[in-house]
Order: sequence, then structure tokens, then C-alpha cells
Amino acid sequence: MERSSFSEKLIGWYSQNKRNLPWRNTKNPYLIWLSEVILQQTRVVQGLPYYEKFAEKYPTVVDLANADEQEVLRLWQGLGYYSRARNMHTTAKIIVAKCNGVFPNNYHDLLKLKGIGPYTAAAIASFAFDERVAVVDGNVFRVLARVFGIETDIASHEAKKIFGELANELISVKNPSTHNQAIMEFGATHCTPANPDCMFCIFADSCVANATGKQQILPIKSKK
Ligand code: ADE
Repeated sequence: MERSSFSEKLIGWYSQNKRNLPWRNTKNPYLIWLSEVILQQTRVVQGLPYYEKFAEKYPTVVDLANADEQEVLRLWQGLGYYSRARNMHTTAKIIVAKCNGVFPNNYHDLLKLKGIGPYTAAAIASFAFDERVAVVDGNVFRVLARVFGIETDIASHEAKKIFGELANELISVKNPSTHNQAIMEFGATHCTPANPDCMFCIFADSCVANATGKQQILPIKSKK
């Protein structure tokens, strides 16, 4: 795979195939954060109504910070992993107390906040502020492992470095936000865990997994 054309092809695919999702039509870091917390362990179709409910009930991080915890948990009912809601509420209070309710506007400062890890910081920094920093989630591991034939165990420490460096090398200079949305969308809807659509794939000619028949074994993930 020619690294220089990866992003252009990906963004071309995305422009034709993307789902219209509400958090993709905003630059508001709070709403982007909300969507990412909901989508961490939840599918888009299931998370969508919760995103709408939360955005309506708590339109700003200050509203969320001031909310009663029981009320936040009640609104979360049905999504599971309640610690996500509790941590989000705690982080909202920290953003109000330490940052005057204004989200930090770059990856480095976002990462300093308790409750925001590398993935979420990259998502907010790129989607809201167009910072050139790559998101690396399960979708990105899968797409890169297959296209570039990377056989490093994605559960390993080494993988974080290898995939992170490659993802940051590939990300578009002109449009990091769209690039990040595109690679996640490609992983979620085209380069899927089971039955990826290799017949009609923009990377069919250059994908290592397609050439070697390794779609089903890549990415490699050991059981911990
Ligand atoms: N899953 C995690 N983040 C997402 C996003 N921004 N769009 C679609 N699915 C996602």
C-alpha cells in the first residue's frame, strides 16, 4: 500500500458512503465528547437516541456538571457500563472547576484531564479543533493490520506504538478530522470483523490481507 495515497482514497470512500450522524455535524467539543463516551461500548444505532436525550437535557458541560447524579444515571438506563456515566459526570465537574467550563482545545491539554484517555483526547482534538492527531480504536487496528499486513498482537504494548505511529503518519494534513471519521467508518461498515467486503474495496489491489487471504486472522489479538 502506497502510504501517500491512503488518506485520499479513504476520504473519497467516506464522502460516498458515510452515515449522517449528528455528532459529525458539530464542532462543539462537549457534544463530541458525549458521543464518544456513549459510543465507547455501544453500537451507533443503540447510542443515537441516548446522544439525543443527553444533548437535549444537558446542552452544555456546565448543565451536565450541575445535574444530579441520580438523574444522569437514570437517563443512562439501558446503555450499561454505568461507570461511563459516573466518570463523565465527574469529568464535567472538573472541567467546570478547573477550566471554567471551557474544554481544553488541544490533545496535550485534553489528556491531562482525569477521565479523558488518548483515544478520546484524539477524537475531541481532531473533530472539534482539527488537530492532526490520529484516533486509534478497534476499527483502526483492524483496518491498518489488514491493509498493511501487521501481525503484531494488538493487545501488546508494542502494538500501541506501532499502530499509533503508522496512524499518525497516514493522517491527512489538510483534513485530519474527516480522515479520522473516515477510517473509523470504514472499519465499522466496510472492513468489518466478519465478512469484510474485499470484492468491492478501495484497497483491494494493495491490501496485504486481501492478497494473502489473512482477513480472518488479522488483526491478531491474544487472549489476556
Ligand atoms: N464510534 C466511535 N466514535 C465514532 C464516531 N465518531 N462515529 C461513528 N462511530 C463511532
